[in-house]
Amino acid sequence: MIETERLTLREWREEDWPSFWAGTNTPNVMRWLGGLLDEDGMAATRTRVENCAAANGFCFWAVERKSDGEILGFCGLKRADAPGSTVTGAMEIGWRLREDAWGQGYAKEAATASLDAAFQRFGADEVIALTVPGNTPSWGLMTRLGMRRREELDYTDTRFGEELNPTIVYSIDRQTWENRA
Ligand SMILES: CC(C)(COP(=O)(O)OP(=O)(O)OC[C@H]1O[C@@H](n2cnc3c(N)ncnc32)[C@H](O)[C@@H]1OP(=O)(O)O)[C@@H](O)C(=O)NCCC(=O)NCCS
Repeated sequence: MIETERLTLREWREEDWPSFWAGTNTPNVMRWLGGLLDEDGMAATRTRVENCAAANGFCFWAVERKSDGEILGFCGLKRADAPGSTVTGAMEIGWRLREDAWGQGYAKEAATASLDAAFQRFGADEVIALTVPGNTPSWGLMTRLGMRRREELDYTDTRFGEELNPTIVYSIDRQTWENRA
């Protein structure tokens, strides 16, 4: 469990999933993630998170707001595993918050704690993040975290069409993270 000023990042509980989907399976949240998920898509996402946690000992954590116990979404770490990826196996940070939690610095707060965990607890030398060119909020967060654009690592994700490609890559190394202002 990771605590920040306003948030707890923790393992998933059964009852988190309905709240998570109610908040995040919306057209705006899923805009750059392939659109709304049906039951099978939601089940597959959950299975991916659970398998990744079992395999690595970490994955995207449930993000709970301390003040009211609400599930705001997820944020955390995984091993990059997308089809056709140039960064397979790299430590990857990711985030997805419900719309009414945007614009309040929650994602940056959760991501900062996740990067601390990646470098201090899980011994990463480098952490990467992936998005698509249109997802300005997501790559905006990457730059606010001090991550660097890695154009040479961009790739095509064969699961998606033109609008959701290429996957663009950002990264930050341990030294840059530890030396940040
Ligand atoms: C990507 C995503 C997590 C970014 O969330 P976010 O709320 O924009 O990011 P931050 O937490 O950094 O918040 C920044 C905003 O909060 C504001 N803010 C308010 N209080 C703040 C505080 N205490 N600290 C920092 N920022 C604060 C900032 O000014 C900024 O506002 P702006 O966007 O109007 O400039 C969110 O857009 C999202 O969940 N998108 C859908 C899912 C998705 O696409 N995930 C990524 C897949 S690659």
